[in-house]
Amino acid sequence: ERLFQVAIDGPAAAGKSTVAKIAAKTLGYIYIDTGAMYRSLTYKALKTETDLNDGHLLKQLLDHTEIDLVQEGDGQKVFVDHEDVTERIRYPEVSAHVSLVSSFEEVRVEMVSRQRKMAESCSVVMDGRDIGTHVLPNAQVKIFLIASVDERAIRRFREEERKGLQPSLESLKEAIALRDKKDMEREVSPLVKAEDAIALDTTSLSIDEVVEKILQLVKEKQ
Ligand code: C5P
Repeated sequence: ERLFQVAIDGPAAAGKSTVAKIAAKTLGYIYIDTGAMYRSLTYKALKTETDLNDGHLLKQLLDHTEIDLVQEGDGQKVFVDHEDVTERIRYPEVSAHVSLVSSFEEVRVEMVSRQRKMAESCSVVMDGRDIGTHVLPNAQVKIFLIASVDERAIRRFREEERKGLQPSLESLKEAIALRDKKDMEREVSPLVKAEDAIALDTTSLSIDEVVEKILQLVKEKQ
């Protein structure tokens, strides 16, 4: 059976993982959250007080780090060296440093190799920043999800409120805009829409509507 690849890229908090998870479940494919991998390395680097400006050190740290993405029910759990870090990798401290950690070529080469390996034996929905442009250039379906910064900040705000936190909308907005800027301006595999990716503006679409569009695109290519 031919393996199928769906690549979903886009800026921070555009809803990639939410729709990717549902689409993967519906299709019976594996969902791979590449952002969680960069977050995992960032988490470990902070914990071990590794110099975040030293790409070579970060790559060495990564060589000694096992990152496991485990499908569980509707969600996914993330383990770093067998420690459950699912919640911790979403903390603001990790979010604030992940773009720096993921800017180093050595780090990215190793991450991309792990990501490609995961997609070797099964059909996948993979989300990130460079999936359609770099990790899976032959993906049959490529989506570039966008939404206004305001809408993305509000979604994050509600998400954090549901978790019982007391977020500030302004600081969420600033953090999202800053992360996008760093991801778009880095030299290695910056965030950019692949030429053959379909742009979907989700600002005024519901989760179900976005998923429906993606499933429709997959159906057309199957
Ligand atoms: O997807 P998420 O927002 O969790 O990604 C966190 C960060 O990881 C991004 O802001 C980006 O710096 C980095 N990332 C990346 N390439 C990917 C996925 C994520 O550089 N494929």
